[in-house]
Amino acid sequence: MRQVLISKLGSLEGVDALDVATGTGDLAILLAKEGARVRGEDLSEQMLALAREKNDLSHLDIHFHLGDASRPIGEWDVITIGWGLRNIPDVGGTIKRHSEALKQGGVWGCLDLAQPENIVLRFLLRIWLALLPVLARLKGAPPDSYLYLGKSIQSFPRLSALSSAMERAGLEVLHAQPLFLPGLILLVGKKR
Ligand SMILES: C[S@@+](CC[C@H](N)C(=O)[O-])C[C@H]1O[C@@H](n2cnc3c(N)ncnc32)[C@H](O)[C@@H]1O
Repeated sequence: MRQVLISKLGSLEGVDALDVATGTGDLAILLAKEGARVRGEDLSEQMLALAREKNDLSHLDIHFHLGDASRPIGEWDVITIGWGLRNIPDVGGTIKRHSEALKQGGVWGCLDLAQPENIVLRFLLRIWLALLPVLARLKGAPPDSYLYLGKSIQSFPRLSALSSAMERAGLEVLHAQPLFLPGLILLVGKKR
């Protein structure tokens, strides 16, 4: 999935890329492997520590730092966010601030989970999300993260609304599409 996003970002050789909500750095690592100079940011020091370990093992030169994904600082050729936007309350404002932190012609890429536009698929996803915490309980696992997942997807804008938010933020929408797994979406925009 991350590789699909990477393949839609254009040439990454020598570009300055910021991966926000980087988690353990998997998307940042793929960007660096394509030749980008990468900074990865996250709110969690624990995640960043794991990301730095992966960076060392991969012999890459990614810089991982604390940073708030809703307010990126600097000027970038590429900004990416994988499964992070849904966790930020002000989605439209965040996309706008990401756009403002891009150089003209810079590219913004996002992977996340959203409710499908199709009513039948939306219904099926809703059932699956309702089942997940039940299955977790049956397996003795805490259901909380699955409950959060369901709630966060329900309150996250759908693809069409995200696409409009990108336009309002000054991004030309290059891709706004569902991917193969239910609910998984890909967004790519170019700063006008
Ligand atoms: C699902 S993980 C990220 C996955 C990662 N991008 C990847 O491709 O594997 C979500 C991450 O977002 C981080 N996060 C949540 N809210 C954030 C915020 N406002 N600023 C920065 N990081 C945030 C969490 O700490 C967590 O590491």
